[in-house]
Amino acid sequence: MKLPARILLLGSGELGKEFVISAKRLGCYVIACDSYSGAPAQQMADEHETLDMLDEDSLRHVVSKHTPDIIVPEIEAIRTEVLNEFEDSGIQVVPSARAVNYTMNRDKIRDLVSVELGIRTASFGYAESLTECVDTASLIGYPVVMKPVMSSSGKGQSVVNSQSEIAKDWEYACSGMRGDRQRVIIEEFIDFEYEITLLTVCQKDGEVLFCAPIGHRQERGDYQESWQPTDMTGEALLQAQRIAEKVTSNLGGVGLFGVEMFIKRDEVIFSELSPRPHDTGMVTLISQNLSEFDLHARAVLGLPIPQLEVYGPSASHVVLANRHARQVAYEGIEEALKVPGVDIRVFGKPTARPYRRMAVCLARANTLEDARAKAASASKAVTIVYTD
Ligand SMILES: Nc1ncnc2c1ncn2[C@@H]1O[C@H](COP(=O)(O)OP(=O)(O)O)[C@@H](O)[C@H]1O
Ligand SMILES: [Mg+2]
Repeated sequence: MKLPARILLLGSGELGKEFVISAKRLGCYVIACDSYSGAPAQQMADEHETLDMLDEDSLRHVVSKHTPDIIVPEIEAIRTEVLNEFEDSGIQVVPSARAVNYTMNRDKIRDLVSVELGIRTASFGYAESLTECVDTASLIGYPVVMKPVMSSSGKGQSVVNSQSEIAKDWEYACSGMRGDRQRVIIEEFIDFEYEITLLTVCQKDGEVLFCAPIGHRQERGDYQESWQPTDMTGEALLQAQRIAEKVTSNLGGVGLFGVEMFIKRDEVIFSELSPRPHDTGMVTLISQNLSEFDLHARAVLGLPIPQLEVYGPSASHVVLANRHARQVAYEGIEEALKVPGVDIRVFGKPTARPYRRMAVCLARANTLEDARAKAASASKAVTIVYTD
């Protein structure tokens, strides 16, 4: 790859922002796209475009206007069919058009992993109507988890405890759906001991690297805090790495993937994966010499990763908005940063809405417990000031 490369970033949230910073440090030229202007990554990029990324013609237009060497999708809501077309025309799609296409559909990736690759997942079925939901859920056995096949960050997702609740949850799933398919996946509820994200880097020379496993806690299907390295037995870690390698090598391409798995009595159960940096992986902004964004950039550009150094027990904790506002400001950042080992990333999102992730607090300490406590109290110290 001749540097600097021209990168078209599709999706300009906080993960895209950190990716742009990593790519800019390597001298790349970045055009950042989103559905609104002023998005976090657009603030860092050389140029920005505002468009509906579900619209094929708008995507074709920005690609022909900017002639990128590389297209880096940062979000799931993209018309993935045209990515094949771009890939066929010689543009590098990250990690590969196939990987993006499979992972944006919960049913496609689940069928691939469970049926074709024979990897353990929660038992599952699909439903396209309330009647099918009732049938599928009773086959699996309550409680079950219901999710739209196209959604992210817990949108439209719920735990259904009994048949009497299912109509309400089906309606909720329909309201959280993206795309044009009214379809849900219904899964066995896994009473896991803990869940992890295994950041997996696929490189041009074929070598696969793994970051230390990240533990995390979710609420409403959305991440609240993460920590690294999470304590796992050697056997469970090895199983997790084997699963991650099998899935990512099948999907193909280069870049970093976030592979989510549940662990129950040393059994590793595959859940889902992102073909890009993962929100729980923001902890690597403080835990490693190369963050997940640096690793993604290096892998994508075909640059070597000779050493991955883990600095010590680290944690991240989100700062969420709790209401709608047209403008925001922050108080308490000085309080948060008084503590040694604490850092913050304020995403610079222009507006707020309930549960919108606005910033993340990062911390490093001698123990995981201390790192988590420091990140949590830093996040508590930050107050969002809302202006209508
Ligand atoms: N089958 C399941 N059993 C138990 N918990 C689940 C199950 N599926 C999802 N969850 C919980 O919900 C979170 C979000 O679900 P996930 O499938 O990762 O959706 P998203 O794409 O929105 O991140 C998971 O990290 C986990 O905590
Ligand atoms: Mg997830």
